[in-house]
Amino acid sequence: MNRLYEKLTDYQKEDIYPFHMPGHKRNPDLMHTLFPSSMDITEITGFDNLHDPREILFEAQKAAARLYQVKEAFYSVNGSTAAILAAVSAGVSRGGKILIGRNCHKSVYNAVSLRNLECGYLFPGIYGHCGISGGIRPEDVKQALESHPGTEAVVISSPTYDGIVSDIRSIAEIVHEFHAVLIVDAAHGAHFAFGSVFPEPAEQLGADLVITSIHKTLPAPTQTALLLSCTDRVRPEKIRRFLSVYETSSPSYVLMAAMDFCIAGLERNGKEMFRNYGEMLLSFRQACSEWRNFRLLMPCRNKDQGILDFDRSKLLISAENTCLCGPDLQQILHDRFRIECEMAGPEYVLALSSVGDTREGFCRLLEAVRVLDKEAARNDLSAFRKKKEQILLPAPSAVMQIGDAEEAETDEVYLADSVGRISGEYAFVYPPGIPLIVPGETVQEEFVRLIPEYQRQGLNLKGFRDSHFHKIRVIKDT
Ligand SMILES: Cc1ncc(COP(=O)(O)O)c(C=O)c1O
Repeated sequence: MNRLYEKLTDYQKEDIYPFHMPGHKRNPDLMHTLFPSSMDITEITGFDNLHDPREILFEAQKAAARLYQVKEAFYSVNGSTAAILAAVSAGVSRGGKILIGRNCHKSVYNAVSLRNLECGYLFPGIYGHCGISGGIRPEDVKQALESHPGTEAVVISSPTYDGIVSDIRSIAEIVHEFHAVLIVDAAHGAHFAFGSVFPEPAEQLGADLVITSIHKTLPAPTQTALLLSCTDRVRPEKIRRFLSVYETSSPSYVLMAAMDFCIAGLERNGKEMFRNYGEMLLSFRQACSEWRNFRLLMPCRNKDQGILDFDRSKLLISAENTCLCGPDLQQILHDRFRIECEMAGPEYVLALSSVGDTREGFCRLLEAVRVLDKEAARNDLSAFRKKKEQILLPAPSAVMQIGDAEEAETDEVYLADSVGRISGEYAFVYPPGIPLIVPGETVQEEFVRLIPEYQRQGLNLKGFRDSHFHKIRVIKDT
C-alpha cells in the first residue's frame, strides 16, 4: 500500500473534479501556494498566542468579526467540532438543560455527553423527497421550551448539510422570551454573508452564538472554523475558557494564516468573487431543468416542513425517479465522469458547490447528468435496479441520559436480538454524522430493519464497535 503522502501526491495528478469540501476546490488561484511549510511556526516573538490573543491574532479575529458583522469572532483550527463543544459548554451550565435538533451533528451530542446535560429534542419537519429532513418549526421550539422549563440553550443546524434553512429570526425571539440562548450550527453556511443568492445568515437574525466552518464552503483549508458571538447573552470569557479546553494548545500558524488570507480576500474582493460564482450557479440550476429523470431539488419555503429558505449552493441531485440509489449515482459519477461528490443519501447525491468552482467543473457535472438522464430514459441503467425500501424511524425513546449510557456497562448482542434493549452506542451514516440511534435510547424494530437496508444501498455506516454492524452494544441488564 502507498504511504499517505504518496497517495495524495498521486491523487493530485488525476483529473478528478471535486464537488466536495474543502471550499477552495484545490483552485490555485484562490489559495496561497506558500502555505504548507515555510509558514509553519509556533508562538514565536511577534506572532501572538491564540489562547491569549493581544496583537496580530487579536487583529485577525477582529477582521473576521468585522467581515461577519458580529461582536466577536473566535478562530477554531479544530473545525466547527471544537467551536460547537465550546459554544454549548459556555451556553449551558454543567448538568443543565438543553434542547437540540434531533438532526444535529454528533459534536452537539458529544457536548451534551461531556457536560452531562439533560437533553430534549426538537424534531425537524419532513421535506418529503429522498428522506431529506426539513427545518425546525418555531412553534415546536415554543412548545418544547414550555414543556422543558429551565432550558438554558437551544441548538439547531441551519443550514443543514442538505441546505435547509429554518426560520432563525422567529426561533431566536421565542428562545429569548424563555431567557435561553440560541446556538446555531451554521457549519455549512459560512458563505451566506457574501451573496444575495443565499439566505440571510443566522448571525444577523438574532442568534446568540453561530458556528461556521469556513473550510466547508469558502476558500480555506480543512479544520478552519469560526465561532461568532453575536449578542451579549454568553460571556466571551466563558467562550475563551472553553475554546482553550477543546482546542489544541499549538494552533497551526499555517491554518490561521490561511484563515486570515481567506478573510482578507473576502473583505477585499468578496462581492466580485461571489457575483461570478452566483451567475454560474444560477445558470447551472436553469440548465438542470432539462433533465427528465434526475432532478435538481429545490426545497421551497414551507411552514409545515419548517423550511424558510434553501441554500442554492447545495446541488441535491435526486435519483428518486430512476432505478439508482444515491450511492450508485455517486459511484457512477466518480468512475465514468471523474466527479467526486460530497455525499450520497439513500436516493440522492449532494454535489457541494462553492466560490472555488470553475465553469469547467459545472459543465462537467451538467454533461454527466445529461448523459445519465438519457440512459435512464432508455432504461440503460437497469443493471443497478434494487428494490428501494423506505423505512422511517419512529420517534426515539430515551430512557437514560447520553453520558450515563456511554459510561454504563454493556453487552454486545446480535442486532436481531436487541429490540427493546437500551443502546450503549451511536449509529450514524457518515457523512452527515446525524445519529440514527443515541446511547440511552431503546432499540426499536425499525432501526434493526434499517441497518441492513442502508448497508444494501451502500451507505457508509459508522459508530458501532462492530464495524460490520452485526452486533450492537446494549446496556447490561441489571
Ligand atoms: C452540521 C455540521 N455541524 C458541524 C460539523 C463539524 O464540522 P467540522 O468538520 O468543521 O468540525 C459538521 C461536519 O460535517 C456538520 O455537518
